[in-house]
Amino acid sequence: MGMRVKLAAGNWKMNGTRAALAEIDTLVAAHGDAAIEILICPPATLLAPMAERIGTAKIALGGQTCHPQASGAHTGDISAEMLADAGATHVILGHSERRADHGESDDTVRAQARAALAAGLTCIICVGETEAQRDAANTLDIISGQLAGSIPDLSTGESLIVAYEPVWAIGTGRTPTLDQIGEVHDYIRAELERRFGAGVGRSVRLLYGGSVKPGNAAEIFAVSNVDGALVGGASLKASDFGGIIDALQ
Ligand code: G3P
Repeated sequence: MGMRVKLAAGNWKMNGTRAALAEIDTLVAAHGDAAIEILICPPATLLAPMAERIGTAKIALGGQTCHPQASGAHTGDISAEMLADAGATHVILGHSERRADHGESDDTVRAQARAALAAGLTCIICVGETEAQRDAANTLDIISGQLAGSIPDLSTGESLIVAYEPVWAIGTGRTPTLDQIGEVHDYIRAELERRFGAGVGRSVRLLYGGSVKPGNAAEIFAVSNVDGALVGGASLKASDFGGIIDALQ
Protein backbone atom coordinates (compact mmCIF):
# COMPACT_ATOMS: atom_id res chain seq x y z
CA MET A 1 0.00 0.00 0.00
CA GLY A 2 1.39 3.39 -0.98
CA MET A 3 0.87 6.49 1.10
CA ARG A 4 -2.38 8.23 0.32
CA VAL A 5 -1.48 11.62 -1.17
CA LYS A 6 -3.48 14.45 0.41
CA LEU A 7 -6.00 16.06 -1.91
CA ALA A 8 -7.55 19.53 -1.89
CA ALA A 9 -10.45 19.41 -4.35
CA GLY A 10 -12.59 22.40 -5.34
CA ASN A 11 -16.13 21.94 -6.63
CA TRP A 12 -17.12 25.16 -8.36
CA LYS A 13 -20.68 23.89 -8.95
CA MET A 14 -22.59 26.22 -11.36
CA ASN A 15 -20.25 29.15 -10.80
CA GLY A 16 -17.70 30.79 -13.04
CA THR A 17 -17.27 32.23 -16.50
CA ARG A 18 -14.00 32.93 -18.30
CA ALA A 19 -13.47 35.94 -16.05
CA ALA A 20 -12.84 33.44 -13.23
CA LEU A 21 -9.75 32.08 -15.01
CA ALA A 22 -7.83 34.80 -13.18
CA GLU A 23 -8.35 32.77 -9.97
CA ILE A 24 -6.57 29.86 -11.64
CA ASP A 25 -3.63 32.08 -12.55
CA THR A 26 -3.34 33.06 -8.88
CA LEU A 27 -3.57 29.44 -7.77
CA VAL A 28 -0.92 28.35 -10.27
CA ALA A 29 1.42 31.11 -9.12
CA ALA A 30 1.01 30.33 -5.41
CA HIS A 31 0.48 26.54 -5.40
CA GLY A 32 1.47 25.22 -8.84
CA ASP A 33 4.14 22.98 -7.33
CA ALA A 34 2.44 21.96 -4.06
CA ALA A 35 3.43 18.70 -2.40
CA ILE A 36 -0.22 17.66 -2.15
CA GLU A 37 -2.65 17.14 -5.03
CA ILE A 38 -4.87 20.02 -6.07
CA LEU A 39 -7.99 19.47 -8.15
CA ILE A 40 -10.49 21.96 -9.54
CA CYS A 41 -13.86 20.81 -10.85
CA PRO A 42 -15.21 23.82 -12.76
CA PRO A 43 -18.35 23.97 -14.90
CA ALA A 44 -17.72 21.90 -18.05
CA THR A 45 -17.54 25.07 -20.17
CA LEU A 46 -14.33 26.06 -18.36
CA LEU A 47 -12.46 22.75 -18.53
CA ALA A 48 -10.64 23.34 -21.80
CA PRO A 49 -9.69 27.00 -21.22
CA MET A 50 -8.63 26.15 -17.67
CA ALA A 51 -6.46 23.28 -18.89
CA GLU A 52 -4.75 25.73 -21.21
CA ARG A 53 -4.19 28.25 -18.39
CA ILE A 54 -2.79 25.59 -16.04
CA GLY A 55 -0.29 24.40 -18.62
CA THR A 56 2.32 22.22 -16.93
CA ALA A 57 1.51 23.27 -13.34
CA LYS A 58 0.45 20.48 -10.97
CA ILE A 59 -3.25 21.27 -10.79
CA ALA A 60 -5.71 18.64 -11.99
CA LEU A 61 -9.16 19.18 -13.44
CA GLY A 62 -12.40 17.29 -13.02
CA GLY A 63 -16.00 17.26 -14.18
CA GLN A 64 -19.02 17.46 -11.87
CA THR A 65 -21.01 14.55 -13.35
CA CYS A 66 -21.08 12.42 -16.50
CA HIS A 67 -23.56 10.34 -18.47
CA PRO A 68 -23.33 6.55 -18.12
CA GLN A 69 -23.14 6.13 -21.90
CA ALA A 70 -20.24 7.09 -24.16
CA SER A 71 -22.28 9.00 -26.76
CA GLY A 72 -25.74 9.22 -28.28
CA ALA A 73 -29.10 10.96 -28.18
CA HIS A 74 -28.88 12.57 -24.72
CA THR A 75 -29.44 16.28 -25.15
CA GLY A 76 -27.56 18.36 -22.62
CA ASP A 77 -25.48 15.51 -21.22
CA ILE A 78 -21.72 15.08 -21.24
CA SER A 79 -19.87 11.78 -21.44
CA ALA A 80 -16.83 10.77 -19.44
CA GLU A 81 -14.82 10.61 -22.64
CA MET A 82 -15.75 14.23 -23.41
CA LEU A 83 -14.58 15.32 -19.96
CA ALA A 84 -11.27 13.53 -20.52
CA ASP A 85 -10.95 15.09 -23.97
CA ALA A 86 -11.44 18.56 -22.45
CA GLY A 87 -8.62 17.98 -19.97
CA ALA A 88 -10.28 16.31 -16.98
CA THR A 89 -8.65 13.46 -15.09
CA HIS A 90 -11.35 13.23 -12.39
CA VAL A 91 -15.13 13.45 -12.10
CA ILE A 92 -17.39 14.07 -9.11
CA LEU A 93 -20.31 11.62 -9.08
CA GLY A 94 -23.38 11.34 -6.87
CA HIS A 95 -23.10 14.78 -5.31
CA SER A 96 -26.18 15.35 -3.17
CA GLU A 97 -27.19 18.24 -5.44
CA ARG A 98 -27.22 15.86 -8.43
CA ARG A 99 -29.06 13.24 -6.39
CA ALA A 100 -31.68 15.83 -5.34
CA ASP A 101 -31.96 18.05 -8.45
CA HIS A 102 -31.68 15.31 -11.08
CA GLY A 103 -32.96 12.25 -9.24
CA GLU A 104 -29.64 10.43 -9.59
CA SER A 105 -29.96 7.14 -7.71
CA ASP A 106 -27.22 4.87 -6.41
CA ASP A 107 -27.74 2.74 -9.54
CA THR A 108 -27.23 5.79 -11.77
CA VAL A 109 -24.10 6.79 -9.92
CA ARG A 110 -22.68 3.27 -10.19
CA ALA A 111 -23.30 3.26 -13.96
CA GLN A 112 -21.70 6.70 -14.28
CA ALA A 113 -18.71 5.50 -12.30
CA ARG A 114 -18.25 2.49 -14.58
CA ALA A 115 -18.27 4.81 -17.59
CA ALA A 116 -15.84 7.20 -15.93
CA LEU A 117 -13.41 4.42 -15.01
CA ALA A 118 -13.60 3.07 -18.56
CA ALA A 119 -12.65 6.53 -19.84
CA GLY A 120 -9.66 6.57 -17.49
CA LEU A 121 -11.08 9.09 -15.03
CA THR A 122 -10.71 8.91 -11.25
CA CYS A 123 -14.16 8.97 -9.61
CA ILE A 124 -15.00 11.07 -6.57
CA ILE A 125 -18.17 9.42 -5.30
CA CYS A 126 -20.14 11.47 -2.77
CA VAL A 127 -22.15 10.08 0.11
CA GLY A 128 -23.83 11.78 3.05
CA GLU A 129 -26.89 11.89 5.25
CA THR A 130 -29.59 14.54 5.52
CA GLU A 131 -30.22 16.25 8.82
CA ALA A 132 -33.39 14.19 9.39
CA GLN A 133 -31.44 10.99 8.80
CA ARG A 134 -28.77 12.05 11.30
CA ASP A 135 -31.40 13.05 13.86
CA ALA A 136 -32.97 9.62 13.46
CA ALA A 137 -29.55 8.01 14.13
CA ASN A 138 -29.53 6.53 10.62
CA THR A 139 -26.28 8.10 9.40
CA LEU A 140 -24.15 4.97 9.17
CA ASP A 141 -26.96 2.92 7.55
CA ILE A 142 -27.45 5.60 4.92
CA ILE A 143 -23.72 5.77 4.21
CA SER A 144 -23.50 1.99 4.03
CA GLY A 145 -26.31 1.82 1.46
CA GLN A 146 -24.84 4.61 -0.65
CA LEU A 147 -21.38 3.00 -0.65
CA ALA A 148 -22.74 -0.42 -1.57
CA GLY A 149 -25.04 0.98 -4.27
CA SER A 150 -22.90 3.70 -5.83
CA ILE A 151 -19.43 2.16 -6.02
CA PRO A 152 -18.81 -0.34 -8.81
CA ASP A 153 -16.48 -3.30 -8.44
CA LEU A 154 -12.85 -2.19 -8.45
CA SER A 155 -9.50 -3.82 -8.81
CA THR A 156 -7.46 -0.85 -7.66
CA GLY A 157 -8.26 1.78 -5.07
CA GLU A 158 -6.33 4.63 -6.68
CA SER A 159 -9.09 5.35 -9.19
CA LEU A 160 -11.67 5.88 -6.45
CA ILE A 161 -12.05 8.73 -3.98
CA VAL A 162 -15.00 8.85 -1.58
CA ALA A 163 -16.26 12.21 -0.32
CA TYR A 164 -18.30 12.32 2.86
CA GLU A 165 -20.59 15.34 2.56
CA PRO A 166 -23.34 15.60 5.17
CA VAL A 167 -26.15 17.29 3.23
CA TRP A 168 -26.92 19.64 6.12
CA ALA A 169 -23.32 20.90 6.21
CA ILE A 170 -23.17 21.93 2.53
CA GLY A 171 -23.15 25.70 2.11
CA THR A 172 -24.59 26.24 5.60
CA GLY A 173 -21.51 27.15 7.62
CA ARG A 174 -22.36 24.23 9.93
CA THR A 175 -20.03 21.26 10.26
CA PRO A 176 -20.23 18.00 12.19
CA THR A 177 -18.09 17.70 15.29
CA LEU A 178 -14.62 16.27 14.71
CA ASP A 179 -15.76 13.07 16.47
CA GLN A 180 -18.71 12.77 14.09
CA ILE A 181 -16.45 13.24 11.07
CA GLY A 182 -14.00 10.66 12.43
CA GLU A 183 -16.78 8.16 13.14
CA VAL A 184 -18.07 8.31 9.56
CA HIS A 185 -14.61 8.29 7.93
CA ASP A 186 -13.48 5.30 10.02
CA TYR A 187 -16.72 3.56 9.09
CA ILE A 188 -16.24 4.24 5.36
CA ARG A 189 -12.67 2.92 5.55
CA ALA A 190 -13.87 -0.25 7.28
CA GLU A 191 -16.65 -0.79 4.73
CA LEU A 192 -14.21 -0.37 1.82
CA GLU A 193 -11.74 -2.81 3.38
CA ARG A 194 -14.52 -5.33 4.02
CA ARG A 195 -15.74 -5.18 0.42
CA PHE A 196 -12.50 -4.80 -1.51
CA GLY A 197 -9.87 -6.19 0.86
CA ALA A 198 -7.37 -4.29 2.95
CA GLY A 199 -4.98 -3.37 0.13
CA VAL A 200 -7.56 -1.75 -2.13
CA GLY A 201 -9.66 -0.43 0.75
CA ARG A 202 -6.73 1.39 2.31
CA SER A 203 -5.62 3.02 -0.92
CA VAL A 204 -8.94 4.83 -1.51
CA ARG A 205 -8.75 8.45 -0.42
CA LEU A 206 -11.53 9.83 1.77
CA LEU A 207 -12.42 13.52 1.57
CA TYR A 208 -14.60 15.49 3.94
CA GLY A 209 -16.90 18.10 2.33
CA GLY A 210 -19.31 20.62 3.80
CA SER A 211 -18.46 24.18 4.89
CA VAL A 212 -14.68 23.64 4.87
CA LYS A 213 -12.94 27.03 5.23
CA PRO A 214 -9.36 28.16 5.87
CA GLY A 215 -10.32 28.57 9.54
CA ASN A 216 -11.54 25.02 10.19
CA ALA A 217 -9.48 23.06 7.66
CA ALA A 218 -6.50 22.19 9.87
CA GLU A 219 -8.57 20.62 12.65
CA ILE A 220 -10.65 18.63 10.14
CA PHE A 221 -7.51 17.39 8.37
CA ALA A 222 -6.15 16.09 11.68
CA VAL A 223 -9.09 13.66 12.01
CA SER A 224 -8.31 10.01 11.30
CA ASN A 225 -9.00 8.81 7.75
CA VAL A 226 -9.49 12.34 6.43
CA ASP A 227 -7.23 12.52 3.37
CA GLY A 228 -8.34 15.95 2.22
CA ALA A 229 -11.41 18.00 1.42
CA LEU A 230 -14.00 18.59 -1.26
CA VAL A 231 -14.60 22.31 -1.02
CA GLY A 232 -17.50 24.27 -2.52
CA GLY A 233 -17.85 27.98 -1.78
CA ALA A 234 -14.33 28.46 -0.40
CA SER A 235 -12.77 27.02 -3.58
CA LEU A 236 -13.99 29.88 -5.76
CA LYS A 237 -11.43 32.39 -4.50
CA ALA A 238 -7.79 31.40 -4.84
CA SER A 239 -6.98 33.16 -1.55
CA ASP A 240 -9.50 31.06 0.46
CA PHE A 241 -8.67 27.83 -1.34
CA GLY A 242 -4.98 28.59 -0.84
CA GLY A 243 -5.56 28.76 2.92
CA ILE A 244 -7.11 25.29 2.81
CA ILE A 245 -4.23 23.97 0.68
CA ASP A 246 -1.76 25.39 3.22
CA ALA A 247 -3.61 23.65 6.07
CA LEU A 248 -3.22 20.33 4.29
CA GLN A 249 0.54 20.49 3.64
O1 G3P B 1 -18.85 19.44 -3.11
C1 G3P B 1 -18.50 20.40 -2.14
C2 G3P B 1 -19.65 20.94 -1.43
O2 G3P B 1 -20.87 20.32 -1.58
C3 G3P B 1 -19.40 21.64 -0.16
O3 G3P B 1 -19.86 22.93 -0.38
O4 G3P B 1 -19.86 25.33 -0.09
O5 G3P B 1 -20.22 23.82 1.89
O6 G3P B 1 -17.97 23.99 0.85
P1 G3P B 1 -19.45 24.09 0.65
